[in-house]
Amino acid sequence: MNDKKQYECYQPIETQRKNLLSNNESIEVEDFGAGSTVIKTKKRKINAIAGSSLKPKKYAQLLFRIAKFYQPKHIIELGTSLGITASYLSSACPNGKLSSFEGSKAIANIAKKNLKTTGCNNSEVYIGEFSKTLPEYLKTNNTVDFAFIDGNHKKEPTINYFNWILEHSNDYTIMVFDDIYWSKEMEEAWESIKKHESVTLSIDLFFIGLIFLRKEFKVKQHFIIRY
Ligand SMILES: C[S@@+](CC[C@H](N)C(=O)[O-])C[C@H]1O[C@@H](n2cnc3c(N)ncnc32)[C@H](O)[C@@H]1O
Repeated sequence: MNDKKQYECYQPIETQRKNLLSNNESIEVEDFGAGSTVIKTKKRKINAIAGSSLKPKKYAQLLFRIAKFYQPKHIIELGTSLGITASYLSSACPNGKLSSFEGSKAIANIAKKNLKTTGCNNSEVYIGEFSKTLPEYLKTNNTVDFAFIDGNHKKEPTINYFNWILEHSNDYTIMVFDDIYWSKEMEEAWESIKKHESVTLSIDLFFIGLIFLRKEFKVKQHFIIRY
């Protein structure tokens, strides 16, 4: 967790983030889910989206290191936004494939460009509402090894995403939930996911929660770690 090494991909991805943060252009976006409390209008500036939606460097790079360590082959991200965490996940696993999902077409198109710029050719962005695009994807892609759930911070949809992914999981699947204390609904979703009988290990880092399903962990364990 505390690996301070500056991996090669960090700098180009953070340059992309800087470019987005200084991009004053406006785009028309569909407002999805409960995750955008900051701005609710349809026309949004790219720099405002970058400032409010992207996972900060500290956590995006932690996700990079987790993915780099475990080398999942089939990675999904719910909530691509402008593609910054997507670039980290895709760079971490050159032999894997990142499938990232985003509801807003204009945002997804910027993410696609960013993924191209950061050389993430092992990635694909699916556009549409998660409840439609995720089940469709899962119909033809049987396994999920790593999932980052970072969009639509409501209780019921979050639990649904967990259950849908669980059906396509294996012993080594890792799921990461963003903003587990963002709202009462998210706290309840996290509680319910943690308690699920398939979850053998959960790690609460406050801004994100990790769950593991490995059956070899005979006793269910929960850790809270200050990060
Ligand atoms: C917090 S941002 C994702 C940030 C990104 N993972 C990162 O760290 O770079 C959440 C994104 O999920 C999308 N989103 C939220 N709810 C959605 C839904 N129900 N269906 C499709 N997209 C949704 C939003 O449009 C937004 O771009």
